[in-house]
Amino acid sequence: MQDLQTLESEINANITAAADIDALESLRINELGKKGRVSLLMRELGTMSADEKKEFGPKLNQLKNNLNDAVQLRKETLEQVALNIKLASESVDISLTAVSQELGSIHPITQVMDEVSEIFTEMGFSVAEGPEIEEDFYNFTALNIPEEHPARQMHDTFYFPKGEDGTRKLLRTHTSPVQIRTMMQGEPPYRIIAPGRTYRNDSDATHTPMFHQVEALVIDKDIHMGHLKWAIEEFARKFFEIENVKIRFRPSYFPFTEPSAEVDIGCSFKNGEIRIGEGDDWLEIMGCGMVNDRVLENVDLDPKIYQGFAFGMGLDRIAMLKWGIPDLRDFFAADLRWLKHYGFQALDIPSLSTRSSALKGSK
Ligand code: PHE
Repeated sequence: MQDLQTLESEINANITAAADIDALESLRINELGKKGRVSLLMRELGTMSADEKKEFGPKLNQLKNNLNDAVQLRKETLEQVALNIKLASESVDISLTAVSQELGSIHPITQVMDEVSEIFTEMGFSVAEGPEIEEDFYNFTALNIPEEHPARQMHDTFYFPKGEDGTRKLLRTHTSPVQIRTMMQGEPPYRIIAPGRTYRNDSDATHTPMFHQVEALVIDKDIHMGHLKWAIEEFARKFFEIENVKIRFRPSYFPFTEPSAEVDIGCSFKNGEIRIGEGDDWLEIMGCGMVNDRVLENVDLDPKIYQGFAFGMGLDRIAMLKWGIPDLRDFFAADLRWLKHYGFQALDIPSLSTRSSALKGSK
């Protein structure tokens, strides 16, 4: 009878050397299968004496079990190796950043709207909204601009085709219709600002067909022009962060305010740059005045009890001034280089404590 120990270590060595599952399987069939060396030894047991059987039987069984266990172990190891190879080849590197290098930025107009809202809400105003597609009544009639009034021509209005009811809607030419919508709801006092898009058929370096305004309306008892002046000066001081911003009130005319004024900010236009607080040029930034009695009557408020002021300010204009942007048309040209230069980081959210960082722009 062959030396069982030698046989076991020889087959064991072959099992360990099997490089893959297929090699291991043919090894198992050759050694442990029906015609394998271990089975042949088992068969020899039949020719042995009772004493020899007693001695070799258990040893052979042990050998067979050991080798089967060794094959099973090797099989598991090889399967694990194969799996690891497969996983490695299919792996996805999740450590790669999902955010591209081309981060979007906040448009200066959005930044200005946020900063303006921040300043006025601090002063006790709330933010109101109105539709951009507006009715004649809110945009004109209720604001004391009746049909055939010359002020309608001044607005270069974009009209929609007449509807079935004979009326035609329009793109609001200013944010003032939000005054009417506000006063037709609830009771005074009102203290609102209404930022948003406005439209006029006009285009040059300081006019675009679509532009942005913010309306302000304050209605209460005993409101006078001093309140209006204070609110505008306070705003300008905070927004431009320049101690002595030059502000000029010019008498003007709006059908919905009496008296009315236009407000200019002192600036200079030099070498294609616009600078605030320098030079002798002026840029008009808003119209304002005391709300006309007729407008109050149109919304059923008694002018003997309630008064107020209103203003409409060009948001694009004040963005140009604050960040030295010379041409308004560039705001809406969707030029990525321009947006990269003048845009703001997404997390540069304005607050009264962080606005000085916003002033520096995004870079
Ligand atoms: N709506 C006016 C304009 O667009 C501005 C304005 C608003 C004037 C409120 C006075 C009061 O020109």
